[in-house]
Amino acid sequence: MRLITTVAEMAQAAEIGRKRGNVGFVPTMGFLHAGHESLIRRAARECDLTAVSIFVNPLQFGAGEDLAAYPRDLDRDLELAERSGAELAFVPPTEEMYPRPMAATVSVQGVGDAWEGESRPTHFAGVATVVAKLFAIVGPSRAYFGDKDFQQLAVIRRMAGDLSLPVEVVGCPTVRDADGLALSSRNIYLSPAERQAAPVLYRALLAGRRRVQEAGERAPAAVEDAMRAVVAAEPLAALDYAAAVGASDLSRPERLSGEVRLLIAARVGPARLIDNLGTLSPNPSATSVT
Ligand code: PAJ
Repeated sequence: MRLITTVAEMAQAAEIGRKRGNVGFVPTMGFLHAGHESLIRRAARECDLTAVSIFVNPLQFGAGEDLAAYPRDLDRDLELAERSGAELAFVPPTEEMYPRPMAATVSVQGVGDAWEGESRPTHFAGVATVVAKLFAIVGPSRAYFGDKDFQQLAVIRRMAGDLSLPVEVVGCPTVRDADGLALSSRNIYLSPAERQAAPVLYRALLAGRRRVQEAGERAPAAVEDAMRAVVAAEPLAALDYAAAVGASDLSRPERLSGEVRLLIAARVGPARLIDNLGTLSPNPSATSVT
């Protein structure tokens, strides 16, 4: 695997790669785990050349967030990326990506406004801007993102669609630990007791899904109450939001129908954790009225 640190060199290597065939791309902020690994392995399986980027993007961190503390371990990351099938690792210093203040940025209205967008108002513009820039540098035919950050995936799909970016955005399933906790670089912030408490997010999502699938609940508020009650029982967790939304636009309908996404964000100790789960609300016409 080749380690590349400049934009010019990365663009050149990708151009050579495109002559070989499809370039697959996995953007990351490093401190890689099995979730990232699943994306890289899939890209390597489906594409002729796979590039991974490792860049802790300051634009997507708000004031008072964990930019300075964000965990880093480049040697281990490079090893994981190579063993997973990446041939190019793009690891630019911040000055290489942002040599001057960004006057041109990308913002995506609508799908990024609620939930994470409300709690982190500048976050998705920072994500969209860096991903657009990385797409322009790498020129991938397919780019791989995790369902773990479901709203981020929706924002990037919308950006790529609206701007006619010639890239297929591929969503990949969330990788979890055995107790249900979604893998995240931020899990490293958790103390042993907090780590034990953290699967409460997943348990809340499962409780919400049961309300939709087994009890046939169609009122978002009732599903959200079920999720909230699970988190409330865990003293080490403080809920930010629990939402039952339509899977395509992430807006909260009056009545749930079709593909539903359950979203949750909570603080556990110093870490702000997010997770989500898909579920299907049965078609009303198929339910018995007797
Ligand atoms: P990062 O948090 O490093 O995640 C990189 C990619 O890995 C994202 O697409 C994310 O959804 C995916 N991922 C993280 N945890 C996962 C898990 N447990 N299972 C499956 N996939 C998982 O997301 C970012 O970085 C940044 O916002 C980025 C897109 C790189 C822009 O800076």
